[in-house]
Amino acid sequence: MFRPLAELTLNHVNIQEGDCVLDMACGTGIVASLVAEKVGPFGSVTGADLNAGMIEAARLYTPANTANIEWHQNDVTSLPFEDASFDMAFYQQGLQFFSDKPAALSEQRRVLAPGGTLILTVWSAISPLFAAVADSIGRFIGPKASTSVLSPFAFRDGEVIKALLMEAGFPKVEIERLLVERRIGLATESIPKEIAGSPVRELVAKLDEPTEKALYSEIEEALRDFVEDEAHLVRAIRQ
Ligand SMILES: C[S@@+](CC[C@H](N)C(=O)[O-])C[C@H]1O[C@@H](n2cnc3c(N)ncnc32)[C@H](O)[C@@H]1O
Repeated sequence: MFRPLAELTLNHVNIQEGDCVLDMACGTGIVASLVAEKVGPFGSVTGADLNAGMIEAARLYTPANTANIEWHQNDVTSLPFEDASFDMAFYQQGLQFFSDKPAALSEQRRVLAPGGTLILTVWSAISPLFAAVADSIGRFIGPKASTSVLSPFAFRDGEVIKALLMEAGFPKVEIERLLVERRIGLATESIPKEIAGSPVRELVAKLDEPTEKALYSEIEEALRDFVEDEAHLVRAIRQ
């Protein structure tokens, strides 16, 4: 799900060979692995995430020959890195999940070198795919489950993001809009996969088989072949 966004983001960002880069809330590590190709053998990439399962998957998916990547299991508010360790840091779809955003950004500022850049992406509109999923989940499971499907899209106000960054010591903040086109592919395969990565996976797993199939086919009917997702690409320079 996050590869198309990662590829598009990296097309808009200037990474130099030899840079030291942090991929915070790295999940399964898609940004880190793409950045590793750009920084080359004299650069380094560090991926960090709170969730041990994500770090395990990141290690598994990263090719064994990618020697310049390190993985760490850590909370964003307490990082085991020296001050000013990184030239650049990425939060790809991470900020909206951090419960203490000011503490996360202040810790991020500490580990970035002066003049270093934090690049973050956050959904700026509700994905048409997840709007359809939330709608059907609301009918098949209930309103609370429907709201939790949309939780990744709940932090959409660019001005709020900008204010948080400025308060945390990033005086220069620029925001641009990215349009990410994603092919849904064979709906019978892609919709269960999207749900498996969403906050309602356990509730859906409890449905009986005919209900689960009916849920998937209802979502499938609501969708076109492609969906266009919208994200803020935020560049913040550390003072
Ligand atoms: C939507 S995923 C994005 C993953 C990844 N950046 C990507 O693009 O594939 C959000 C990630 O934030 C991580 N996360 C949530 N709270 C965190 C925290 N307090 N510290 C570090 N990581 C956190 C989750 O474990 C999850 O992997």
